[in-house]
Amino acid sequence: MKGHLSTPVLWLLLIIQDVAGAEKLRLADGGSPCAGRVEVKHQEQWGTVCSDHWDMTDAGVVCKQLECGAAVSAHRNAHFGAGSGPIWLDDVACAGTEPALWQCGNRGWEVHNCYHGLDAGVTCSGHIKPRLVGGHSACSGRVEIRDGETWSTVCDAHFDLKAANVICNEVQCGTALSIPGGAHFGEGHGPIWTEAFRCAGNESHHAYCPRISHISQSCSHANDAGAICSGHTGFRLVNSSTACSGRVEIQVLGAWGTLCDSRWDLPDANVLCRQLDCGFAESAPGGGYFGRGTGSVWTDTFHCKGSEPHLGHCPVTALGASQCSHDNDASVVCSGHSESLRLLNGESRCDGRVEISLRGVWGRVLDDQWDMNDASVVCRELQCGVAEKAYTPPKSEQGTGAVGLRRVHCAGNETCLTLCDNSTSETAQTRIAEDIGVICSGSRRIRLVNGTGRCAGRVEIYYNGRWGTVCDDSWDLSDSDVVCKQLGCGHAINATVSAHYGQGSGQIWLDDVNCSGNESDLWVCPSRGWGQHNCRHEEDAGVLCSEFTDLRLVSDSNCAGRLEVFYNGTWGSVCSSQMSGVTPAIVCKQLNCGDGGQIARDFEYGPGSGPTWLDHVACSEQHSSLWQCPSEPWDPKSCDNRAEETHISCTDQDKLRVMGGEDRCSGRVEVWYRGSWGTVCDDSWDMADANVLCKQLGCGSAVPVPARLHSASGLVPSGWRR
Ligand SMILES: *[C@@H]1O[C@H](CO)[C@@H](O)[C@H](O)[C@H]1NC(C)=O
Ligand SMILES: *[C@@H]1O[C@H](CO)[C@@H](O)[C@H](O)[C@H]1NC(C)=O
Ligand SMILES: *[C@@H]1O[C@H](CO)[C@@H](O)[C@H](O)[C@H]1NC(C)=O
Ligand SMILES: *[C@@H]1O[C@H](CO)[C@@H](O)[C@H](O)[C@H]1NC(C)=O
Ligand SMILES: *[C@@H]1O[C@H](CO)[C@@H](O)[C@H](O)[C@H]1NC(C)=O
Ligand SMILES: *[C@@H]1O[C@H](CO)[C@@H](O)[C@H](O)[C@H]1NC(C)=O
Ligand SMILES: *[C@@H]1O[C@H](CO)[C@@H](O)[C@H](O)[C@H]1NC(C)=O
Ligand SMILES: *[C@@H]1O[C@H](CO)[C@@H](O)[C@H](O)[C@H]1NC(C)=O
Ligand SMILES: *[C@@H]1O[C@H](CO)[C@@H](O)[C@H](O)[C@H]1NC(C)=O
Repeated sequence: MKGHLSTPVLWLLLIIQDVAGAEKLRLADGGSPCAGRVEVKHQEQWGTVCSDHWDMTDAGVVCKQLECGAAVSAHRNAHFGAGSGPIWLDDVACAGTEPALWQCGNRGWEVHNCYHGLDAGVTCSGHIKPRLVGGHSACSGRVEIRDGETWSTVCDAHFDLKAANVICNEVQCGTALSIPGGAHFGEGHGPIWTEAFRCAGNESHHAYCPRISHISQSCSHANDAGAICSGHTGFRLVNSSTACSGRVEIQVLGAWGTLCDSRWDLPDANVLCRQLDCGFAESAPGGGYFGRGTGSVWTDTFHCKGSEPHLGHCPVTALGASQCSHDNDASVVCSGHSESLRLLNGESRCDGRVEISLRGVWGRVLDDQWDMNDASVVCRELQCGVAEKAYTPPKSEQGTGAVGLRRVHCAGNETCLTLCDNSTSETAQTRIAEDIGVICSGSRRIRLVNGTGRCAGRVEIYYNGRWGTVCDDSWDLSDSDVVCKQLGCGHAINATVSAHYGQGSGQIWLDDVNCSGNESDLWVCPSRGWGQHNCRHEEDAGVLCSEFTDLRLVSDSNCAGRLEVFYNGTWGSVCSSQMSGVTPAIVCKQLNCGDGGQIARDFEYGPGSGPTWLDHVACSEQHSSLWQCPSEPWDPKSCDNRAEETHISCTDQDKLRVMGGEDRCSGRVEVWYRGSWGTVCDDSWDMADANVLCKQLGCGSAVPVPARLHSASGLVPSGWRR
């Protein structure tokens, strides 16, 4: 039962279901939940169905009821072996629209002239796997479950980590890491699943999970459930003498492979170390430092910030990744021990509120005389550089758990916090109730803001616990190059000035930056010094890097055209050879042009003139954006000729209609946008606009709107007549 039924109807159906008792349906001995002998549970007992007059229509009702797609064949005469128990139904004659097999015409419960040698069977096209939509990787996103012809979202209140585990496993994405609710991955549209999942977690299909009908008034698309899956089924470090360093190996669908080093960096390595309970990353050497592996070399690029608990939380891209051999296997050297100190609620592992692990239990560190000497010891112990600040976190960030340590007094040169003097009297200690925090130089970060994507935008630096901007005085390509390289975004295409990407707020951290271009971090370059400037935010500097990507369809209309991607500073087209059928739909969805689309033939939208960037784009059902799909590496000459360029038309391209008029060619203008119809304001609405619309609707040219129609429409802001 689905969310598009009204609540009273749903209650009614629930009541009917209860009264009717719990009839159930399953397919047995067919090797899959979607093929086998048809079995029905009635009066608490499983029995079979006789195959007299058994046909594809009957099989279709079974497949639909089991959410197994369409019927492939209707089997007679105990094709899947003879069952046992009662023969519940005979002479089944479905019309095809029945929601349950026992609602089809039949002789009546257990009225038959059969024996088990005539048991009916069915083979269905199979489960349509659930999908994860709108996430940063193929293995995270809003949970959507196929229900007949449509996709339903799931209410976060009806979904738990066990159910997510089943879904993650089903879409071959490993295990569930977390289940962000509240439409974390955007709101879906269409029906909302109205049953609550009660999975054990080890079911092979979500359809096997027990579910209970559940109508909650508070479920709307604002409560759509999401899942973040591990993505890969295994992670390990090999060929090193210690457990916490080695060549990075990743398991995908049971097969172990290595990872290409070209985009593997320290933040990524940090996340892997933490995930493997190996502390933090000391280095992320590439070039097969721990020997050459065997098997595939995965070219997935992780984009971790470094503070994520698991690689599955990091966005992943695959499109256009360079090819890689085992000479480029990535590796990592982790600090090796689980940490005995940690910093919480910061931007990285090197800033935040201090906690200490004593005998395996994390506890708060409290102090009322916390100073830079103490902070220095914490930064040293965590290998986070030097202390920049010792502070008391605001009330909202205070801890609540057990206390591990109260008042320490460090000289500043100790190697770890537990070596500091702790000889405060117990009575003095009990009065201390303030958490303490540290900002180490290792917490410095850089990011690009408000440029859509991670590789273009306003330059912002995290320093001393605060994000701030960079002034555009003498800002140039060498400076920008350092930023792009630091972010793993290639090289600089443009150094933007005058708050091209909008004005920031708060601190202006750097001014008169003068990099030579080979520095590792922007703050290493000569400048006036931290916070020294003569600027305002209207002078905020920005960068466009070569790895910045974007997507568009080029033509006169909105949601159809030649597919182009922006890369290395130029728009270019995409070759269509071996392009999978799901690619247009993925592109259309990404561009908010509806749920479907197709490859337009005959070069409908004309040849491109720029580079042809990509070929062999291999999207599959599980991808939710083009960036996640593997392909050949970026190459400006990917297509042999322009005839290979991809042209796409999306299903939602012409979501326009006219309502309230005499026929389909006159009336009030309505536009479909993001799932609903809306009107168009008549400000500056004129005959030229109306002409375009008439043409688009195949309604000839526009004629002036008669006053009668205009006034009759009431609310109507605009209208026209053929
Ligand atoms: C799932 O685990 C439960 C116990 O936790 C077990 O009884 C059941 O057989 C398992 N089911 C499958 C399909 O492995
Ligand atoms: C391990 O790495 C060393 C180089 O560090 C290499 O000589 C050796 O072949 C590697 N062994 C395996 C099994 O990869
Ligand atoms: C720390 O410095 C003090 C002098 O300030 C010295 O006495 C002590 O030996 C030093 N400790 C270490 C571990 O270096
Ligand atoms: C102080 O430090 C010493 C040595 O590390 C330790 O044995 C003792 O338990 C500590 N005292 C408190 C109150 O934490
Ligand atoms: C480069 O940035 C300037 C603004 O600083 C802008 O006017 C120009 O269009 C940009 N060029 C490209 C190719 O983005
Ligand atoms: C983002 O940039 C645009 C200009 O490109 C600007 O109008 C807008 O205010 C900016 N938003 C933020 C949040 O910086
Ligand atoms: C930038 O640095 C170069 C040397 O690398 C120097 O010649 C130049 O004068 C500097 N520019 C500014 C504006 O300080
Ligand atoms: C960067 O290049 C300059 C010359 O342009 C050179 O003097 C300097 O040593 C280089 N720095 C590094 C870190 O390579
Ligand atoms: C990107 O452009 C630069 C020049 O700006 C060029 O050197 C480089 O080869 C280009 N990369 C690709 C993949 O086309």
